[in-house]
Amino acid sequence: MSNTFRIGVLGSGKGSNFVAIADAVAAGKIPAEIAVVLSDVEDAGILVHARERKLPAQFIAPGKFRTKLDEDAERVFVAALHNAKVDLVVLAGFMRVLKGDFLRAFEGRIVNIHPSLLPCFPGLQSWKQALDHGVKVAGCTVHFVDAGVDAGPIIGQQAVPVLDNDTPESLHQRIHAAEHDLYPKCVAALARKEISVVGRRVMWKKS
Ligand code: GRF
Repeated sequence: MSNTFRIGVLGSGKGSNFVAIADAVAAGKIPAEIAVVLSDVEDAGILVHARERKLPAQFIAPGKFRTKLDEDAERVFVAALHNAKVDLVVLAGFMRVLKGDFLRAFEGRIVNIHPSLLPCFPGLQSWKQALDHGVKVAGCTVHFVDAGVDAGPIIGQQAVPVLDNDTPESLHQRIHAAEHDLYPKCVAALARKEISVVGRRVMWKKS
């Protein structure tokens, strides 16, 4: 088997970040292969986009909980990622918190994108939290995933202005556009092994 860096993508929604990453892979900007795309939502847009691109895409029933996977589902997700021999798990709008066994199976190899400049505004609807708080700068963060929620070491951040006439929707849109720029760059750096972590600090080697 070739030693191409292999990515597994997990998402629950539209999949626009997945599209940005898949387009960057196709354009040769990320030296990697998307090995599998998994979703806990049967009709998620991310699966449609993956199938359009002829990439392996699979729905896995998440089990009885609303915000996490049950044990059986967790096992199936981990097995699918192992079968696809992924080097990196990319969360792209995956709406369930990952727990112990999953985290241990891919320790230090799971990344997520969050629509705020962490550690501000973790959790849901961060763009609305930012607007309600009255911050003048918002943005997005790519980070490693650990046992906390939106809490692991920060790989990259991109800021956007908050405008006086912003609505939650207009700010969300601006943040989303920044995500599509930031996430592929971070995944490319990871695929090129340009990222090192010391404690909470993530360093980018210059290529
Ligand atoms: C993004 O806003 C991301 O920050 C959050 O979930 C959303 C996913 O959007 N984690 P999409 O499915 O990639 O369009």
